[in-house]
Amino acid sequence: MNAPVPNIALAAQQLTKRYGALVACDQVTLTLTTGEIHALIGPNGAGKSTLIHLLSGAVAADSGRLALNGQDLTHVGMHQRVAAGLSRSYQITNVFKQFSVFENLLLAVQACSGSSFRFWRPRAQDKVLSEAAERLAVDCALAPETWSLVAGTLPHGEQRKLEFALALAANPSVLLLDEPMAGMGPDETLKLTTLIDSMRGRTTMLLVEHDMQAVFRLADRISVLVYGRIIATGTPEEIRNHAGVREAYLGEEQA
Ligand SMILES: Nc1ncnc2c1ncn2[C@@H]1O[C@H](COP(=O)(O)OP(=O)(O)OP(=O)(O)O)[C@@H](O)[C@H]1O
Ligand SMILES: [Mg+2]
Repeated sequence: MNAPVPNIALAAQQLTKRYGALVACDQVTLTLTTGEIHALIGPNGAGKSTLIHLLSGAVAADSGRLALNGQDLTHVGMHQRVAAGLSRSYQITNVFKQFSVFENLLLAVQACSGSSFRFWRPRAQDKVLSEAAERLAVDCALAPETWSLVAGTLPHGEQRKLEFALALAANPSVLLLDEPMAGMGPDETLKLTTLIDSMRGRTTMLLVEHDMQAVFRLADRISVLVYGRIIATGTPEEIRNHAGVREAYLGEEQA
């Protein structure tokens, strides 16, 4: 891998994943600049989720390299990638669904603070943790009246906000988001778009999303994946006017 470049948060080089004869990701090279929101768009089956899996370490690449802030993560597993600062947003697991919103936040903050799960902790530490959880809730626009509610009973849009907050608890340097707006109505989509926008600069984000309004509002740069290959990377304006992209994807999407 080349020498680290200071403003490059994530560098994927020629990542390839084959499923039998199908090349789901075909020598994908993608660079995320520190602090940017980078959208990854493309038709169904283009390989977007596969790329997210390759980056998070959930799926091993057949070939290619990956570095986070100059640190080579190519052969590093998922948990170590999270520890290095590369996180993805997960849907709330069943366990967390039975906990309150605030308990979820507390657990996430605690897990990320390096403190162990103990029944006895100094009060001062409890206070630090609950203040951190509260800050996170406020930052992520989780209304105080929802904090005591069981997470699984929250409306869909609020659950997505909570998932986003839980992912942020680790203070990741790069956050991977795979279709955070999926299944949301227009109001909820707008709220989540505003929330992601408000986190600009706090973490570098790779956003896979089909909602083009959200993509064009949020993205500093956009990469377009078609049949496993990146066919273009550029500013929203450049992508909007890119003849190959319009032909392969945007034309039909915006029609
Ligand atoms: N575990 C797997 N085994 C076999 N084929 C797979 C597997 N995962 C993905 N694929 C195939 O790889 C291709 C890319 O799938 P992927 O889910 O990455 O696409 P996507 O761009 O995320 O699509 P969508 O927009 O519908 O979410 C598809 O043809 C899919 O069927
Ligand atoms: Mg997908």
